[in-house]
Amino acid sequence: MSEWIPKLTEDGSFTFFSETFNEAFHSRAGAKQEALLKFAQATDLATRAEQSSLCLLDVCYGLGYNTAAALEVIWTVNPDCQVTLYALELDISVPQAAIAPPLINIWSSPVQEVLKAIAQQQHYTIGNLNATLLIGDARQTIQQLCQIDFQADAIFFDPFSPRRCPQLWTVDFFTLVVQCLAETGKLATYSRSASVRAAMLEAGLKIGTIPLGVVHQPDDWSHGTVGSFQLPLHPLSQLEHEHLQTRAAIAYRDRTLSDSAETILQRQTQDQQQSQLESTSSWRRRWSIS
Ligand SMILES: C[S@@+](CC[C@H](N)C(=O)[O-])C[C@H]1O[C@@H](n2cnc3c(N)ncnc32)[C@H](O)[C@@H]1O
Repeated sequence: MSEWIPKLTEDGSFTFFSETFNEAFHSRAGAKQEALLKFAQATDLATRAEQSSLCLLDVCYGLGYNTAAALEVIWTVNPDCQVTLYALELDISVPQAAIAPPLINIWSSPVQEVLKAIAQQQHYTIGNLNATLLIGDARQTIQQLCQIDFQADAIFFDPFSPRRCPQLWTVDFFTLVVQCLAETGKLATYSRSASVRAAMLEAGLKIGTIPLGVVHQPDDWSHGTVGSFQLPLHPLSQLEHEHLQTRAAIAYRDRTLSDSAETILQRQTQDQQQSQLESTSSWRRRWSIS
């Protein structure tokens, strides 16, 4: 089993750092806060929880924080809401390491029990929850959910960043994930990259931004992206629209759902070199983004 060392984030919750992907699992600003803001809130779970049942899909379950935040929000509003959850994760050692204190203490007791059961058994049913964790490459495991026609009200889309894990940000993978989104559902991701947004559009979604709060980095423009088949969504700014007209908006592709990260990155670079679109550096200069 890999050794996962907890790292403190600025809201007092812990995250891990992946040596393989050379990236932390959460934003430094706060792991728990990220799960609540960019996933639970962005998919309107507090409102949706008034329904008698909800279906959730957690892509890249990791420490399980997006699932945990979702359950906290849903069961605070409506303890009787019946939740069906599917979660996809490559490495079982991550959720298993995340159920040790102090990491897990940020959640309520019932949610802690859920996280423990999911990590230990991968399948867990109690009165108001039916949860299944599918271990393996999400490019393969998502196909099981397409086959059973799973329709999620909310999808939490949380791979490592596009440059580090391009295989999960391709048009081809999004196309399968989008098949699992209910007509009125929402998919949320922390990424506001143009190539990700272009892939979401090509996979059939309308997109909106997750607006910045009052406190943010000077040259940041969004907390992420929400995709849905329906409007309204929070509209993209002019800066974001123009970003989608640059070479940064050339999407990753992986037709066979089996290419390596390196192959996918090389393919995108070739597509960018052949493109007539505006260079991303000129867009950055125009908007004073360093
Ligand atoms: C940014 S972390 C996810 C954080 C997580 N949502 C949380 O709240 O802790 C990305 C996760 O994707 C997993 N992962 C990487 N490649 C994957 C793949 N091909 N299929 C499924 N999961 C993958 C990693 O093991 C890691 O747990």
